[in-house]
Amino acid sequence: MSDTSILFVCLGNICRSPMAEGAFRKRADEAGLDVTIDSAGTANYHVGDPPDERAIETARDNDVDISMLRGRRIKADDFRNFSHIVVMDEQNRADVEALRPDDGKATVMMALDPVPGQQGRAIADPWYGDETDFAATWKEVDAAASALVGVLAAEEA
Ligand code: 4NP
Repeated sequence: MSDTSILFVCLGNICRSPMAEGAFRKRADEAGLDVTIDSAGTANYHVGDPPDERAIETARDNDVDISMLRGRRIKADDFRNFSHIVVMDEQNRADVEALRPDDGKATVMMALDPVPGQQGRAIADPWYGDETDFAATWKEVDAAASALVGVLAAEEA
């Protein structure tokens, strides 16, 4: 595992966080960044499930394949194994922090924090929406991914 390791977290791990994982993997590859990446949910509703079909389609529209990803729930060990835990909204942050073990070192941040002017803003859940909402979510997770890659690349340089 590389020094920098990112766990993207949302509620169900079938919409926002797998899309963020896919967008980040693409941006990190483009930047030649060596980063371990995964995603998880705070809930157990979709453990073992592939991403939502709309999320898979939206990623595919952007030349990213996330169909092989499977849902899992975040666990205490993730705070030991990942340097960064990237959440989508404040509820995710509260649910994640409630699981932090005493020796958990991961930094928890909101996905949009590195995007200029977007610090602290949530990425809304598209689950109850339609394809348009998923396309908007992709734009947000991709902006978040690009900005985070930029920060990490600057740290490595
Ligand atoms: P996500 O969206 O947190 O972006 O993966 C959701 C997916 C499923 C549910 C909630 C949010 N659900 O209640 O099943």
